[in-house]
Amino acid sequence: MLCISYFTYSVCIYKDISHNTDINNSFADQGKKIWQKNNCTACHQIYQLGGYLGPDLTNTYSLKGPEYIKAFLKNGTQVMPDFNLTQYEMDALTAYLKQIDDTGVSDPRSFTVLNNGTTYQK
Ligand code: HEC
Repeated sequence: MLCISYFTYSVCIYKDISHNTDINNSFADQGKKIWQKNNCTACHQIYQLGGYLGPDLTNTYSLKGPEYIKAFLKNGTQVMPDFNLTQYEMDALTAYLKQIDDTGVSDPRSFTVLNNGTTYQK
């Protein structure tokens, strides 16, 4: 009986997981997968988390714009590798960085510290 319950429960859980990944398939989410596949986070931070060789990219989209981002993705620099990305991959990565930009601010100096020790972002 216990075995049957375990098996049924496992099937339900795994069915649910695959269901969730189907939902998260927007263009920006595809960009996130390309971000993970190429390990951009080894050198870049998002929301201040990640490597420190390159700059934080949380607000690059609004500060510098999509064409600026794509110029880096297209050629790389002396330090940043050229990943030989397709136009589609570059567009998806830019959509991902736009989504990140829309949902957060990365510079803690711009945060308001509240009396209870938490911070507030505009
Ligand atoms: C080996 C480290 C490294 C990796 C990996 C890397 N970058 Fe960079 N990136 C840099 C550095 C360093 C700079 C700053 C320009 C310079 O000094 O060459 C930069 C600059 C940028 C910029 C311009 C940011 C600004 O504000 O000027 C963007 C956008 C960018 N990278 C996106 C990406 C994306 C997307 C990936 C993954 C596909 C990636 N990078 C992977 C090192 C890296």
